[in-house]
Amino acid sequence: MIAPARDVHIVGTGSYTPDHVLTNKDLERIVDTTDEWITTRTGIKERRISDPDTPASALAGVAGRRALESAKLDAAEVDQIIVGTVTGDRPFPSTACAVQDQLGARRAHAYDLSAACSGFLYGLSVARSHILANNARTILVIGVETLSKIVDWTDRSTCVLFGDAAGAVVLRSTGRPGGILSVCLHSDGSLTHLLEMPGGGSLHPASHETVEQRLHTIRMSGNDVFKHAVRAMESVAGEALAAAGVTPDQLDLLVPHQANYRIIEATARRLNLPMEKVFVNLDRYGNTSSASIPLALDEARGLGRIRDGSLIALVTFGGGFTWAGSVVRW
Ligand code: ACO
Repeated sequence: MIAPARDVHIVGTGSYTPDHVLTNKDLERIVDTTDEWITTRTGIKERRISDPDTPASALAGVAGRRALESAKLDAAEVDQIIVGTVTGDRPFPSTACAVQDQLGARRAHAYDLSAACSGFLYGLSVARSHILANNARTILVIGVETLSKIVDWTDRSTCVLFGDAAGAVVLRSTGRPGGILSVCLHSDGSLTHLLEMPGGGSLHPASHETVEQRLHTIRMSGNDVFKHAVRAMESVAGEALAAAGVTPDQLDLLVPHQANYRIIEATARRLNLPMEKVFVNLDRYGNTSSASIPLALDEARGLGRIRDGSLIALVTFGGGFTWAGSVVRW
């Protein structure tokens, strides 16, 4: 029998982004916008777009395999696969099951989790609980989105924001102190209408009418989302820090959801953190929703900005509304 785990560490990271780069200049030819508007309002310069015939599971599978390689673990050792996504391969079965098959993770049980941009941190929380409860030893948590497939390419207020990507982490107990010190989750379902894709579910099943009414693409009240995001990210970051018993000045790095540079800057300012301690890569990828934090973690590790012992905070906000924060001693 395995002794119950007392710590849950991120022991591997991986990511994948499609090769095709769509720049702000390219977007100038698609909708009435400018590189200057997109850069100053969002900080985004370019984003990656997957091929029309490539499903989310293909991106997730590569990120998952890379995370296992970085953890030096075989797919056969994975007990559970959680995929956070709102752009999975199909309404059912889950994208996670497709990933399990791709990886050959025969022993794992696999399921999707829907929390929009908070999908990865929700997954991290669930996985941590399973390991601490001794239900699983090794869990692969993946965030993947192919948002380019649900963007309204005629709506300049949304199509400039999003991109496609996958990011993954492997969670395990190591017996060392540290690991995931806190995870705080929140939702407010009364504000669903401010950020949604209305069609395709049981509320508005797909029909000619829903296609004509453009219900199968993202709708967002950007300004409202912006205001809620700044407030929620500050408050949940404070909550996660307090739950972990640390103060913002002790952090080595803040890895926020990459939606808008102004939201990230405002969050950092409210936490009194200098921007040197904040990881930003949205200029190259745009908002990749649930993939954004694990993609950023993988890049930050590759660049040496996260090392063993680093104290980092993760914070996100997304559709639902959902928001979440976590503090991790790497
Ligand atoms: N190019 C040029 N002009 C534009 C564009 C564009 N791409 N988009 C909007 N505009 C115009 C608007 O029409 C408006 O014009 P008007 O004043 O003549 O009416 C003007 O720019 C200002 O529009 P606002 O929406 O007020 O611009 P704002 O400064 O709020 O920026 C933005 C918009 C970037 C969307 C911002 O509100 C934002 O980032 N919101 C948060 C998005 C977010 O964080 N989402 C996270 C969750 S995503 C998820 O869960 C999947």
